[in-house]
Amino acid sequence: MASPHTASVLVASNRGPVSYTLDERGELTAKRGGGGLVSGLSAIGPDTDAVWICSALNDADRETVRRTGGALDPADTGGQRVRMLDIDARVHADAYNGIANSVLWFVHHMLYQTPLEPVFDAAFRRQWKAYEEYNRAFAEALAQEAGQGAAVLIQDYHLTLAPLMLRGLRPDLRIGHFSHTPWAPPEYFRMLPDDIAAQVLGGILGADRAAFLTQRWADAFTECCHAVLGPGSASGTRIGVHGLGADADFLRWRAHQPDVNERMAALRQQIGTTPDGRPRKTIVRVDRTELSKNIVRGLLAYEELLESRPEWRERVVHIAFAYPSRQDLAVYRDYTAEVERVATEINSRYGTADWTPVELHVKDDFARSLAAYRLADVALVNPIRDGMNLVAKEVPVVSDGGCALVLSREAGAFEELAEDAVPVNPYDIGGMTAALHQALSMGPGERAERTKRLAAQATALPPARWFLEQLAALEG
Ligand code: G6P
Repeated sequence: MASPHTASVLVASNRGPVSYTLDERGELTAKRGGGGLVSGLSAIGPDTDAVWICSALNDADRETVRRTGGALDPADTGGQRVRMLDIDARVHADAYNGIANSVLWFVHHMLYQTPLEPVFDAAFRRQWKAYEEYNRAFAEALAQEAGQGAAVLIQDYHLTLAPLMLRGLRPDLRIGHFSHTPWAPPEYFRMLPDDIAAQVLGGILGADRAAFLTQRWADAFTECCHAVLGPGSASGTRIGVHGLGADADFLRWRAHQPDVNERMAALRQQIGTTPDGRPRKTIVRVDRTELSKNIVRGLLAYEELLESRPEWRERVVHIAFAYPSRQDLAVYRDYTAEVERVATEINSRYGTADWTPVELHVKDDFARSLAAYRLADVALVNPIRDGMNLVAKEVPVVSDGGCALVLSREAGAFEELAEDAVPVNPYDIGGMTAALHQALSMGPGERAERTKRLAAQATALPPARWFLEQLAALEG
């Protein structure tokens, strides 16, 4: 392990670039993490001066920390210096599942069914203590690793308290915080108990700079500060916006590897042809199965399309990849089950001997996702709320023949892609049905033109520049 107080650039996030699995022979295997945050931060590159601090997420990770002392093998991380923290499993579970994913994620994505939840009781207060402890562990590790005057970029809703804690330990550092989620409007944010709301905002305001994926989320944060802490409370912290874009070079290269070609052939087989011998059209969606992704309403809109416009029957297939996420939480497991139930119901109602209306796959396979991106006629990206949504940006980049993008106006990406997407209100099934019909009916010329413009917009700020821009802004 490198000696302390040496790094000039530090990144901190709950999930690191890799997570481990342990097999029966006691062997550890590294696997790259998913989600927008990891995609963006992987751009740090193997700069020896930079260190990425993350948490052990499971027992195999903890075993890795025990064997390595926490400094991961560069062979596992693509050369990146990574220090993994072995935070007590119960503390991590309360902080990550209890507070970060069940409270802060719910608040920012506005997911509560408010007649019965949230309930901020004694159990919540206990979990909050764990969240504080977890944030303190990060602040202490950062304070230990950072060289004099180093730049520290702290990521996301898991680590809202760490900036202020770190400032207390190391006033010499330049600290940035970045939110990868939406930010709730004040009237929703203020469901949090007043002291907790103040602590979250004050924690982030401990940074020199707080940054967001879109102007909308940045404004919501400022409004919350104003409402909870009072006018002028955010004036000591600079606010920034960096709209993470897709990595065109990587995606175009990766999407043409042999494994992707193989999967395209297999998908074409599954999709099949119409009774008169033409390839069926495809509506593709690729998501981690998060409550905010709105997969069920997407299926309902597709069902309504088949019902109200029977001319599409046998002529279209909905390819839905819904990959597992946060399966420790019962609501996530229930939601996954509901996605499967609705897909099965549509298939049994409309399917025929040689047409399966919905092809649902729940096992994560990046090569197959890229294959679906390449052949999609329509991409359905309809989250009820989303920080950015990189799928909306990745599809146009790798699409072979042009793809119509049906895009929720509640996704961060909508701020940049609105002009060439087909916009939808994610709650309006009829509206989404009409949008799917419009997208499927779009002529090839228009589709290709729009896709070209979408791809240009989607790659305006590739991950490496997204990262370097934040560093530069912190220095300025
Ligand atoms: C997505 C969100 C990030 C979040 C990440 C965590 O990428 O955009 O805001 O940090 O999910 O996902 P995880 O699987 O680590 O809970």
